[in-house]
Amino acid sequence: MNAQVVENQQNLSWYFWPVLPLYPYGKRKTLCREIIKDTLWVFDQLQGILYTVVPIRMSIIKLQEGGLLVYAPVAPTPECIHIIQELVAKYGEVKYIILPTSSGLEHKIFIGPFAKQFPQALVYVAPRQWSFPFNLPLSWLGFPAKRTLFLSVNNQNNPFGDEFKYAVLDINLGQGSFQEVALLHKPSQTLFLTDTIVSINEQPPEILQIDPYPLLFHARENAQQKIIDSADNRLCGWQRIALFAIYFRPSAVKIADFGEMWKDAKKAPDRSSQAYFGFFPFQWDENWQDTFTVLSSNGRPFVAPILQVLILPQAPSKVIEWADKIATWDFKQIISCHFDAPIQTTPQQFRQAFSFLEKDPQMIDHQPLLKEDLRFIQELEANLLKLGIATPTREKV
Ligand SMILES: [Fe+2]
Repeated sequence: MNAQVVENQQNLSWYFWPVLPLYPYGKRKTLCREIIKDTLWVFDQLQGILYTVVPIRMSIIKLQEGGLLVYAPVAPTPECIHIIQELVAKYGEVKYIILPTSSGLEHKIFIGPFAKQFPQALVYVAPRQWSFPFNLPLSWLGFPAKRTLFLSVNNQNNPFGDEFKYAVLDINLGQGSFQEVALLHKPSQTLFLTDTIVSINEQPPEILQIDPYPLLFHARENAQQKIIDSADNRLCGWQRIALFAIYFRPSAVKIADFGEMWKDAKKAPDRSSQAYFGFFPFQWDENWQDTFTVLSSNGRPFVAPILQVLILPQAPSKVIEWADKIATWDFKQIISCHFDAPIQTTPQQFRQAFSFLEKDPQMIDHQPLLKEDLRFIQELEANLLKLGIATPTREKV
């Protein structure tokens, strides 16, 4: 490895990856995109399991009074911090860091090490933080004790000034809470969300195209096919990854049994560790792309099934109240922490994404997800209920 390559690799280092061991583990590329000139930037990284890899995102907003606000930090690799320092040099210090979730471990783990890089910033967190299996104080989880503050649920004292509004969704799950802080940046008419809303583009995200191996891995029809890089394979791989990431077990795929998988792996052209030793147990139906078309529906915003089935039905009226409030705000785009961003949308379209919680939704211009694709997560919920891990859902509103 030459010196330049070594230096580049070190730039991507994320040493705490064993805390949450997700792909791409200890090396994380950051892609910074300027969404609004001199005002708004998103920082995309990747996370996933078994090459089911999706973007995870942080947003940075330049404050009118000078300085920066960071929503949902990602891994503070040297590369990532270097890009932020360039913004700091131009626009002023990082003043606020927001952890907008209480349950999203994939966002929470970065706060401590990220805040360390910006010792003058105040860290605002969603109000009811918890950890599992033990409820540890935030300082034990690496949060800076003297400058970590809880956001109030009812938005009494908005610490971020007139430029912003925020609303906290707060659902009691028994063991802990599901919370999400929706943040509106008024001047850019941008709504920032964490996990509640996603949108899936037909085309693979840019951050996934830097190292397209996961895309190409999933583009194959069987273990015997070679990995070939082409635009078609990248597209096919992305659409299958999106189906896996959203439904866990999409209706259009069959998983081979272990015996079959073993037999196929022995004939695979590449049995390296990168190719998972030739194991490829997926058999896609011929019409699998139709299920992706429904999932994507031209990028309309929707609620991921794990939240539709397991989490939000725990408190439908609270969710609807929260969504109703946000739908009165003036925004034209949503920046969410996963999948596609920015999502060009309207408050009405945002509100419609929650219509699955209503018995008789007023607005029905929203393409729902396919029932057969939701089945696996519904079965998962039934099993969690039997084990006493999940609690029964509440009546629709
Ligand atoms: Fe998340």
